Amino acid sequence: MKPAHSVNALKSWVELQGLSTREMPHLRDLLQDKSRCEALHYKALGLELDFTCQRVDSHVLAALQRLAQESNLKDQIQRFFQGQEVNTSEQRAALHPALRNLDEHKVAWSKSITQEVHLELERFCSFAEQIRAQKHQGYSGEAFTDVVNLGIGGSDLGPRMCVQALSNLEAWEKPSKSAALPRVHFVSNVDAWALYKVLSDLDPRTTLFIVQSKTFLTQETLLLAASAKQWLTQNGCPLDKTSQHLVAVTANTALALQSGYKSEQTFKFWDWVGGRYSVWSAIGLPVAIAIGEKKFKELLEGAQAMDEHFHQTPWDRNLPVLLALFGIWNNNFLKAYTHHIAPYSYLLSHFTPYLQQLEMESNGKGVDLQTHPMQVHTSPIVWGGLGIDGQHAYFQLLHQGSHLVPVDFIGLKSDTCPADKAQEHHQCLVLNMKAQAKALAQGRNLQETKKELKETGLSDEQIALLAGHRTFRGNSPSTSIWLDEMSPKTLGALMALYEHKVFTQAAIWSINPFDQWGVELGKKIAQQLKNN
Ligand code: F6P
Repeated sequence: MKPAHSVNALKSWVELQGLSTREMPHLRDLLQDKSRCEALHYKALGLELDFTCQRVDSHVLAALQRLAQESNLKDQIQRFFQGQEVNTSEQRAALHPALRNLDEHKVAWSKSITQEVHLELERFCSFAEQIRAQKHQGYSGEAFTDVVNLGIGGSDLGPRMCVQALSNLEAWEKPSKSAALPRVHFVSNVDAWALYKVLSDLDPRTTLFIVQSKTFLTQETLLLAASAKQWLTQNGCPLDKTSQHLVAVTANTALALQSGYKSEQTFKFWDWVGGRYSVWSAIGLPVAIAIGEKKFKELLEGAQAMDEHFHQTPWDRNLPVLLALFGIWNNNFLKAYTHHIAPYSYLLSHFTPYLQQLEMESNGKGVDLQTHPMQVHTSPIVWGGLGIDGQHAYFQLLHQGSHLVPVDFIGLKSDTCPADKAQEHHQCLVLNMKAQAKALAQGRNLQETKKELKETGLSDEQIALLAGHRTFRGNSPSTSIWLDEMSPKTLGALMALYEHKVFTQAAIWSINPFDQWGVELGKKIAQQLKNN
């Protein structure tokens, strides 16, 4: 195991502390500097990252780069991509990049891993194609019209987010004109209403359940699967035919087979894939059913390209590293303890919950790799939702509240929605996203506010009463991330961007982003309460 470093003892950390207590120019002034703005724009892999609205100058940028170096980031990335035991508390590698790099000649991990991954990928993709082509039937001999994903956490959030994000592909991905593609639904919540609401619209003869669970022990998922099975039998499916309607995806295949799942409908992944990093494995089956094998593989390609970028690119142009460093600057030095995610595309409705698990389950840690209590804050509280809706709900707090809240705005440069006036709608989103980033950065000071109020014809008395309420402090940092378009490749790149951002922050804080012991105690107490 690599010795952990004490991040707050690093020279660059101390330097950054000094820089954060300086009088810094306001963002509105920093934004006047054209060469700074040009230097803080980056493009790669169908993404554009605009960091101009981060509260950084050349001194902060240089010190952040030194922080990456002093944290031995290079070495830590190397160890990760070599498949070394980076998940120290569970004594294993975290090799999700192996799920999307199938070139045996280019990988540092064992070739047998690549071969096994490849085999399973082909198995579940070909199953997905058969479902799409209506070649699999339920007990009545009819093809499946509906697929219901039963799973929670990483067995739900990644696939649910991808299916929604890539639903723009549906129109042109039908296997044949006459075939209707199966609809994909998700149930994660053990509340009976969640399952009931979905099933009440479905026909048991044509419904396929995918039971997704890495451990195959998660109480909520097993209960949902049992109720789904009961729904099948109570609605006409003979008991011995239920397995036709059930698929298992798990790292615990022995238990799935023992529980009656057919081996040809049981797909595996491996203990070195964390739940929140698992959508690239057979956990992606609902995505492959929704968008087809070809597009699913493009999603992997997009992520793989980001792996390569992360692995090879110098820190000052490395997108995940930059995103991570600005996050650390905001969290640990500007004392912004929450981080807001605001997608400006309806297709990304489920992106924030996906990211919440990725960031907070990974980096919400209180001890370092040597189990020393952390001396500095780790993951911020990640929150958010669709930006355009947020503007009319909680953005008030972002603009004038007492907390400093950095924002990641995520938008599409172009959109292909076939609806009438879709371009006008898209333009509305784009302009609003740009306007919010600008308003948060620039603000409007008292003097400007008074001037504007004067121009509306208000009296001095009225202005004195109102100006304070209508002033915006500005200086709130944000990053704007633009996707050229919503495609499997750009989505894959975006997801891997955040995965590696999380890795980089963990490497700097010297924590383990791949375990999640914090979720265990509550589960254990629930079990004890059940047994009592
Ligand atoms: O309780 C948290 C957690 O273990 C997550 O890490 C995981 O993604 C989720 O539960 C579901 O676990 P499983 O896939 O084993 O059912």
